[in-house]
Amino acid sequence: MGPALRNLTEHWNQADLVDYLTDPKAWHAKSPRLAEYTKRFPMRMPVPDLTPEQRAQVAALILGWK
Ligand code: HEM
Repeated sequence: MGPALRNLTEHWNQADLVDYLTDPKAWHAKSPRLAEYTKRFPMRMPVPDLTPEQRAQVAALILGWK
């Protein structure tokens, strides 16, 4: 349904990833790579229903995945 969440540090820092999780669609205009994903995957990345603190925790967690 979406891209593998691996080696995200190649493309993201903590602040940008939190911003992406706040409004994924806004990043399609900023990143050709993410725009390309919208052609590859039939569904859109949903806006996670998280508090700012939870978004920061999720971002930190997935940035650590290799
Ligand atoms: C805890 C849940 C989720 C997290 C933390 C998460 C996180 C992410 C991240 C970090 C990216 C960017 C990947 C990259 O830079 O290579 C991404 C992209 C994407 N995700 Fe998710 N995701 C979640 C759930 C989902 C679900 C449930 C779907 C589909 C039903 C989905 C669909 C997509 C798609 C299609 C993209 C491509 C780009 C875009 O549409 O913005 N994600 N996701």
